[in-house]
Amino acid sequence: MCGIVGYTGSRQAYPIVIDGLKKLEYRGYDSSGVALQQGSSLKVYKKAGKVAALEEHIGIASTLGTTGIGHTRWATHGEPSDRNAHPHISKSGNLAMIHNGIIENYAQIKNELIKEGYQFQSDTDSEVLLNFIEDIKTNNACSLEEAIRIALKRVTGAYVILIIDAEQPDTIIAARKGSPLVIGIGNKEHFLGSDASPMLAYTKEVVYINDYELAIVRPDELILKNLGNEVITPFVQKLDLELAAIEKGGYDHFMLKEIFEQPSTIADSLRGRLVLHESRIILSGVDAIQEKLRNARRVIIVACGTSWHAGLLAEYVIEELCRINVEVEYASEFRYRNPIIDGDDVIIAISQSGETADTLVALERAKEQGATIFGIVNVVGSSIARISHAGCYTHAGPEIGVASTKAYTAQLAVLMLLALKVAQERGTISNERFQALCHELNDIPGKVQWILDHEVDNIKAIAYKYKDAHDALYLGRGYNFPTALEGALKLKEISYIHAEGYPAAEMKHGPIALVDEQLPVVFIASQDAYHEKIISNMQEIKARKGKVIAVVSEGDEITPTIADDIMTVPLADEVIAPLLTVVPLQLLSYYIGVYRGLDVDKPRNLAKSVTVE
Ligand code: M6R
Repeated sequence: MCGIVGYTGSRQAYPIVIDGLKKLEYRGYDSSGVALQQGSSLKVYKKAGKVAALEEHIGIASTLGTTGIGHTRWATHGEPSDRNAHPHISKSGNLAMIHNGIIENYAQIKNELIKEGYQFQSDTDSEVLLNFIEDIKTNNACSLEEAIRIALKRVTGAYVILIIDAEQPDTIIAARKGSPLVIGIGNKEHFLGSDASPMLAYTKEVVYINDYELAIVRPDELILKNLGNEVITPFVQKLDLELAAIEKGGYDHFMLKEIFEQPSTIADSLRGRLVLHESRIILSGVDAIQEKLRNARRVIIVACGTSWHAGLLAEYVIEELCRINVEVEYASEFRYRNPIIDGDDVIIAISQSGETADTLVALERAKEQGATIFGIVNVVGSSIARISHAGCYTHAGPEIGVASTKAYTAQLAVLMLLALKVAQERGTISNERFQALCHELNDIPGKVQWILDHEVDNIKAIAYKYKDAHDALYLGRGYNFPTALEGALKLKEISYIHAEGYPAAEMKHGPIALVDEQLPVVFIASQDAYHEKIISNMQEIKARKGKVIAVVSEGDEITPTIADDIMTVPLADEVIAPLLTVVPLQLLSYYIGVYRGLDVDKPRNLAKSVTVE
């Protein structure tokens, strides 16, 4: 969480930094700030609220300067407020710092500094780290760079920091551990960011900074070192990303744009991998660990949030098609519960951002114990992609809306490819079934387009009807159960309506007590092996005067006679159908959020990339 931006070069830094902050606002948006070098002094502006509030606060004040840093915050230590916003200024006033991450032992360091007479202006761990660095610099009479190195060896936790020093013009010092940092290389200028979006308009050449690395960045040089002060050669990569991919392109919200992009993003996930005429799936990442997967006795899937829901669906698909035992774990639980792992285990990590702290640490632990890590990640070059032994990118393109939509369907597409490929290699699927599912998968982009072409007005009307609900239940069985969980999560995130996902049959063991004439119950009731059973569950809700909204397959004649409202998707095999049934649920949440007047791209309290635990 938190977005960080920096610039040093010959242009004015402020417009670049502010524009970068807007691009990174998805990472956190409770306050923001900038610091600019103006001659031998620093100018700092900060404000609670979104970046627009900061701009308004700055108004016509001086923003001159060709070196600057900026921060958009997702609060961890201290409430969102002007004084807790970054950048923080050191006691001497000479250093300004922005920080993304958590300094876990900050309280101990803070006490030491208080004993030395420090007084803090904010409640943050970040201000403690900054003054700790300055204290080391003063007491050891060493350079800022050396002081940063010493301080970082002492702190525990995660960080990306960017520091500017009034005494070192045109210089930004940056360091990372556990949070992302990208440096863009321009012509006698450098750009820094939590991801590449702030620099896309200026350069495609980037360096991804690794943990325990420190960068000294000036307009015409980038010096990279480790914490032992050894110089490292930067590995420059070319970005394969266009500016249009991170703009709204005429849509009201990124979330809507991303929902509508799904026919093409799913096609991108399949492209070059699903080779229908050869009855073959090409996934070079899977080939890299082919033996492991072919012989695996179990696969452990580790993820959080929506990515965990993709993992849950993968459990159903892999167990059915590959006959491999699959365990799906919340990364945050897995990392702390001393799981039994050995060298035979394959861990599949699923993450849109590739930076989720819980997932990342869970993988590090599993890797230490000898497991093979396979990453299914959207953001190219992200930390999870880099620590994986092998993997597949999902190719959904940048997802900016905080609620995951296109990244989820891309994850499902890749997981289905993986399951089909492994099943074929293990001989656990017949040729006919393999081919049938491959064709079904290939048809998905067109079927998602059908939903977007035919169902939006209907879903809008349903959203309007239920926009004032206080609670909602989402029910599904079998392959439709993970979709029920995902539908409920989407509604919670975007509309702040309390929603629960349940296996439909589990309803009678408790949740049915919630049913009254006010409660909307959303059934994921596409054609599958349990269709008659889910119809019985619907009847049980209707008998108690609940409102039934059902996602049904085209051609279903029974469900519409029971349900109050229906959302239709094209017919598909039950294994593949989750790529379709989630789309109406995404749209339903989106329109309910819009009708409730909420900021659907930046729901309260959330952040896109959860880089703290
Ligand atoms: O980047 P990741 O996929 O690792 O993120 C995991 C969750 O934080 C994420 O899916 C979250 O639940 C989304 N807000 C869901 O819409």
